[in-house]
Amino acid sequence: MSMVLGAQQSAGLGVEVRGFDVDAVTPAEIERLTQTVYRDKVVVLRDQGDITPAQFVRLGRMFGELVSYHEPMYHHPEFEEIFVSSNVPEDGKQIGVPKTGKFWHADYQFMPKPFAFTIFSPKVLPAKNRGTFFINMAQAYEALPDELKDAAAGTRCSHSVRKFFKIRPDDVYRPLGEVIREVEEHTPPVTFPTVMEHPVTGEKILFISEGFTVELHGSDDPDLLDKLFEATGQLDTEFTHPLIHQHGYESGDIVIWDNRTLIHRALHTTTPAATVSHRVTALDDHPLYARAL
Ligand SMILES: [Fe+2]
Repeated sequence: MSMVLGAQQSAGLGVEVRGFDVDAVTPAEIERLTQTVYRDKVVVLRDQGDITPAQFVRLGRMFGELVSYHEPMYHHPEFEEIFVSSNVPEDGKQIGVPKTGKFWHADYQFMPKPFAFTIFSPKVLPAKNRGTFFINMAQAYEALPDELKDAAAGTRCSHSVRKFFKIRPDDVYRPLGEVIREVEEHTPPVTFPTVMEHPVTGEKILFISEGFTVELHGSDDPDLLDKLFEATGQLDTEFTHPLIHQHGYESGDIVIWDNRTLIHRALHTTTPAATVSHRVTALDDHPLYARAL
């Protein structure tokens, strides 16, 4: 079966693709999928349950240069490009890291080169609460009242991993101050414009997340960052804000999203149900943004 793109899913976010075959896909089809991710933000490849880690890495490379996560404890044992989130030990050994990403963020927003694409493959899905929350930060910017748009213009924000850096097994018994110093040295905060223009679509994106954005510079209002978090739904603990999309997974899905425009948040079960996912992350040939606003 050849690749078929569905219509944008009205209930949620993204375009469904059936008949995708990683061994048969053409460069033209990858280009079409790439443009669809930029435009529609989420592409769901159905029925990919049999994909091997080697095929998954190959798929990722079709979208751009893959970047391995900076902390090796997240790496797949054979393919360091694959980031593993898992609470299921294999042969008694922890593989990857459990309970990742349960906070609003864009992947690698705290690094000098945040990713263009996140390619996510849930491997073991819990029976309930299987999915990811997304907020489209171009939509969120458009929905801001004019006074917040004006207040954000020309400001910049710093982003850091410090609030969500996970203590590694080797950190046990280390002084916390030493660990904190090391985190600040290895991953110092990065600063980007608060509002930026998407290099492909031209959309205006509010590039902030409650998990990683730690400071806003260039405003007289010390509460501006919190006001922007509030207005974009990131402080809603019930997840009913109209900008929050809950994207559900089916077994075998691979989901590709535009990491410039979307922030996301993992939806982990409150009960300890088994959950395993793989992801790869890719850069494209465009700068992070075309211009600052
Ligand atoms: Fe993430």
